[in-house]
Amino acid sequence: MSEPMIEVRNLSYTYRGRGEKSALSSVTFSVSRGEWLAVIGRNGAGKSTLAGLLVGLLKPQSGSIRINGQMLDETSEWALRRHMGIVFQNPDNQFIGTTVEDDVAFGLENENMPVAQMKVRVAEALKLVGLSGLRQADPSRLSGGQKQRVAIAGILALRPDILILDEAFVMLDPKSRRDLLSTLRRLAEATHLTILSITHDMDEAAASNRILVMQDGKIVNDGTPGQIFSTEKDLGAPFSERLRRILLAKGRRAPDQYMTEEEMVDWLWK
Ligand SMILES: Nc1ncnc2c1ncn2[C@@H]1O[C@H](COP(=O)(O)OP(=O)(O)O)[C@@H](O)[C@H]1O
Ligand SMILES: [Mg+2]
Repeated sequence: MSEPMIEVRNLSYTYRGRGEKSALSSVTFSVSRGEWLAVIGRNGAGKSTLAGLLVGLLKPQSGSIRINGQMLDETSEWALRRHMGIVFQNPDNQFIGTTVEDDVAFGLENENMPVAQMKVRVAEALKLVGLSGLRQADPSRLSGGQKQRVAIAGILALRPDILILDEAFVMLDPKSRRDLLSTLRRLAEATHLTILSITHDMDEAAASNRILVMQDGKIVNDGTPGQIFSTEKDLGAPFSERLRRILLAKGRRAPDQYMTEEEMVDWLWK
């Protein structure tokens, strides 16, 4: 097993003025380089608090975070944040440019990247999110889903080592969502991008390598999508699992355990 990219130990956090209740209590887990970890759980479970601590928006009150082996603290924070990108649910108020292209270039401009190189990066990133055709468009006139894809492109253009998505796909239509999930899957495999995606969408969770289930600030389950979807029965199952259950219920031939969509398609074709 490679050295963990993210290593969280006994991390706790309580918002001020909220009495004794911790938003996060003694959370421990790690994520390997190139791994895609999905984090699921009800509203208020502590998922966004965890994301905020990882990217340094909040300061840990106890416990520790290591990024690529290095302790995240006041002295290392700026250098480490350069390797992490986060996208939130709501894309409004992240727009600064007059064209989509300018917008995606914003983070790169801050790095003083030569213009020619920047153009290549921006074009690549727009291609990844399926928006090459809207390079010159006015960002304020895009749909919510398109704005969100621009925001994701802006982060991908920076080529982070770690991508954190906090319900970032909520605004996307089903097709863009599926396309982006497979793009991210490819990126994780090809570039060893490490992904932590917080989601309510079970198809998104199913695209990950591993799922953490959170409840009341704690991790209550940790396993592969197959393990999670077979033990957490009250979760809405991803599409492939729903299909498998329907086949079983109708007395049809069906796989005897959870399969990803791809595995399911292969299986059905046999
Ligand atoms: N800014 C805040 N101030 C006070 N309490 C907060 C704040 N943000 C979140 N909380 C509380 O912390 C707990 C965890 O919230 P959060 O991390 O946002 O959960 P999730 O993202 O899983 O919905 C909840 O009880 C929530 O009400
Ligand atoms: Mg949240």
